[in-house]
Amino acid sequence: MQRIKSASLRWDQGVPISNKFDDFYFNSDGGVDESNHVFIQGNQLVDRFKALMPKDSFVIAETGFGTGLNFLITRQHWLAHAPDDATLHFISFEKYPLSAEDMMHAWQSWPHLNDCNTALLQQYPPATEGFHSLSFDQGKVKLTLIFGDLLEQLPRLEAMIDAWYLDGFSPSKNPDMWQSELYQQMARLSHSKTSFATFTVARQVRDGLQTAGFSLTKRSGFGNKREMLIGQYLTHKAKISVELCPDLPVIIIGAGLAGACTARALADQGQSVLVLESNPKAAQEGSGNPQGALYAKLAVKPSPETALHLHGLLYSANQIKQLPVQDPPLASLCGVLQLALSDKERERQTQLCKSELYPNSLFQLVGAAEASQLSGTETPHSGLFFPNAGWVAPADYCHYLLDHPLIKCHFNQSVTHLQQQDNRWTVTTDKRQYHAEYVVICTAADARKLEQLDHLPTKPIRGQTTQVSATDNLPALKTVVCGEGYISPARQQSYCFGATFDLHYHERECRDSDHLKNIDQLIKTLPKFAEIKLNHCSGRTGFRCSTSDYLPIVGEVANFSETVKRFENLRYDAQSCQHLSVPRLKGLFVNIGHGSKGLITCPISAGVLVTMMFNQPNPLPKDLIERLDPARFILRDLTRRRI
Ligand SMILES: Cc1cc2nc3c(=O)[nH]c(=O)nc-3n(C[C@H](O)[C@H](O)[C@H](O)COP(=O)(O)OP(=O)(O)OC[C@H]3O[C@@H](n4cnc5c(N)ncnc54)[C@H](O)[C@@H]3O)c2cc1C
Ligand SMILES: C[S@@+](CC[C@H](N)C(=O)[O-])C[C@H]1O[C@@H](n2cnc3c(N)ncnc32)[C@H](O)[C@@H]1O
Repeated sequence: MQRIKSASLRWDQGVPISNKFDDFYFNSDGGVDESNHVFIQGNQLVDRFKALMPKDSFVIAETGFGTGLNFLITRQHWLAHAPDDATLHFISFEKYPLSAEDMMHAWQSWPHLNDCNTALLQQYPPATEGFHSLSFDQGKVKLTLIFGDLLEQLPRLEAMIDAWYLDGFSPSKNPDMWQSELYQQMARLSHSKTSFATFTVARQVRDGLQTAGFSLTKRSGFGNKREMLIGQYLTHKAKISVELCPDLPVIIIGAGLAGACTARALADQGQSVLVLESNPKAAQEGSGNPQGALYAKLAVKPSPETALHLHGLLYSANQIKQLPVQDPPLASLCGVLQLALSDKERERQTQLCKSELYPNSLFQLVGAAEASQLSGTETPHSGLFFPNAGWVAPADYCHYLLDHPLIKCHFNQSVTHLQQQDNRWTVTTDKRQYHAEYVVICTAADARKLEQLDHLPTKPIRGQTTQVSATDNLPALKTVVCGEGYISPARQQSYCFGATFDLHYHERECRDSDHLKNIDQLIKTLPKFAEIKLNHCSGRTGFRCSTSDYLPIVGEVANFSETVKRFENLRYDAQSCQHLSVPRLKGLFVNIGHGSKGLITCPISAGVLVTMMFNQPNPLPKDLIERLDPARFILRDLTRRRI
């Protein structure tokens, strides 16, 4: 993931022209009509949308998002013609994203398409490479904006495309994009009913598509263009669609943030869900804090952890923007100040700002005076300000997520045992048995107590947060402030701050010594909180679930003994076995290991799981999903000859 350049434009009567490619973004006499003619009619979308069944999904991929015109038009056709509970996935690639100002300028030409502009602008990602998930119309329309070079990003996509819009400037002005790699990747991602449409009939485009296995038909072009091209992928590869089964709920074990996000993501797709939880209520363990910071600690050098955190932060922030207004609020994107308490951290932050990885809109370096002004209280420290981050109330957020007509929760049910027979799972609790085709384990570090997951290297890490009344003698904080710990602005007249980090102590009771540690850390960062007295403090403890590589564990569970057998050559040659696939416990999924960053990793992990279960376009790049694979530890341990 790295910072990318925005588009540089000039304008001709309301039509943007790319300075780099010296080409128009859309036709000056009828951009909307051209888009309808070439892409909508070219792919016969109105008829195909009308023919869909309830709960179906349809996937479109576009080369070049530009002003979003094609997306806006397609969305309107979708809302007019597709069944009400079907889902449109629109995936669009963009190497040079337009700035929000340029977008708004372009949209002035089409006032009738403007009904989702505010939502699009609100969720529009910063200019950073990678996959960005946006959602419209109560989730009926999902947009995945993939920023970066098309030919670099296409191999990272996991999806089955129903229709392609080939729309990246003309091949003579942009030859680098119209390469054979494009057509080969299109073939990888297409099935027997996949169509494409493009405005160009250039020779090398026709040859490339034909060689990759697409049929070609010339049609009359739009306006002064004599011809355009449509076609179909010629293959026997069928689209694999996974039927949702309303009568047999998916079972989720664990009602913390991971379980609640997974349950809600499934329910939002129309899938019924049964959540089994050993406590009498949801969010009584790691997710039970009244408030937590929604922010990412980004590294100077690219790493899978940083890439996941950045994708996750933007994903969670977009979900928060869709939340209904509530009192008290469930979350707030009030901004996060990450203060530098040491020379080393100051140096790290300076390097971060110089780094090519992050766009300026993500964070800015601020001096102590500006940090004091932003936070609303004096601090002697400079730091980084993240305007698009904030806090979430995890416990209340879990309750909100689980409050859905398709989600049932059975509390006081501690799962002891899982058994698979004839493609069904029997889930045994201390009280009764349940059956399901799909089960998702979201039990944090307790997952190891189940036989199928006892090989996973997770560890519980105790943390204690402190709460104190937001009385008049304490400052009125305006942003989240992180130093060695963190504090959020007061919610329900109470401040929540912390948290300790304890690998060896496992008691649940709060300790005065830990409250004192939290107070001490806070005062070092924000001295005006010195009025806090220990005897005014309350708090709670919880356990984070950490993994040996600090990444969550998300995906279908590997069959341990079969994987060891199939991959045994790894013990002798780490490069072997690359062609082999991991034997899985079909239908058994896991979503755990969120450490101290669950607020940014649980929602996106739930998104990954659901798309995996139902064969939909994935919200994360393939290479990053592989990093989260539950099988990774078995393969690593074989390579290291530990098993
Ligand atoms: C003190 C503290 C401070 C934190 N601060 C932040 C922060 O500021 N920002 C941030 O992003 N993250 C923070 N985190 C991390 C974040 O809260 C966690 O990553 C997240 O809540 C994990 O959610 P989970 O659902 O995986 O686990 P949990 O919330 O622990 O949920 C697991 C659930 O599974 C249930 N369960 C277990 N075994 C069984 C069984 N056999 N049968 C049925 N149910 C079972 C449990 O009862 C529990 O409800 C903090 C964590 C702690 C502890
Ligand atoms: C003609 S415009 C697309 C118009 C757009 N579909 C719309 O609805 O406004 C072409 C777009 O392709 C993008 N583009 C060009 N080369 C690209 C590449 N190699 N990878 C990704 N995007 C590219 C350009 O930046 C530009 O935004």
